Amino acid sequence: MQFLLLITALLPTASAFTPLRSATDELQIRNKLSLYAIALDTKNLVLLDQVFTPDAVIVYPGPAASILHGLPALKTYLGKALTGFVTQHTLSTTVVEQTDGREGVNSTVYLVANYLGQGNLTGSVAYFHGTYFDVWTKQKGEWKSKARTLELLPPGPVGNLAILSSPN
Ligand SMILES: *[C@@H]1O[C@H](CO)[C@@H](O)[C@H](O)[C@H]1NC(C)=O
Ligand SMILES: *[C@@H]1O[C@H](CO)[C@@H](O)[C@H](O)[C@H]1NC(C)=O
Repeated sequence: MQFLLLITALLPTASAFTPLRSATDELQIRNKLSLYAIALDTKNLVLLDQVFTPDAVIVYPGPAASILHGLPALKTYLGKALTGFVTQHTLSTTVVEQTDGREGVNSTVYLVANYLGQGNLTGSVAYFHGTYFDVWTKQKGEWKSKARTLELLPPGPVGNLAILSSPN
């Protein structure tokens, strides 16, 4: 029995979930995930400086698939993409996990991006459902994402798609 337990303990645990040891670190990361949503919905993109490393690589999906290299490229892209839209990025299920024995941290976050119709589209909404995958790194005591990938659930945007093609 003891022998079996020992064997089990030595098996690789690659697929196991390992929480962060530091609740403070985890809280900071969760806060920064939320800060991203606030930055986009208030169009206060300077907040992104606290979320991503200057050289972060961001991969957005879709027909206009974009791989953005660095914060300036991200801000330019989002500035254009959000102009004229009233949005709320709703983040829900969130998992923050240790990916190696030291400072490797990944997070997985569910997203519903709500685009609220204005003017003659008032009362209807377009939605994107997806998941953000981030790789975090600690620089000078601050956690920042150095890589983010957004994956959308099929079929992509749903609801009143006219909203997406008519920015105000
Ligand atoms: C962490 O996330 C990156 C990027 O999504 C992925 O390549 C890597 O496999 C993840 N690490 C673990 C241990 O899940
Ligand atoms: C809705 O309003 C936009 C301008 O805000 C206009 O271009 C469009 O033709 C209007 N659509 C309808 C169906 O009234």
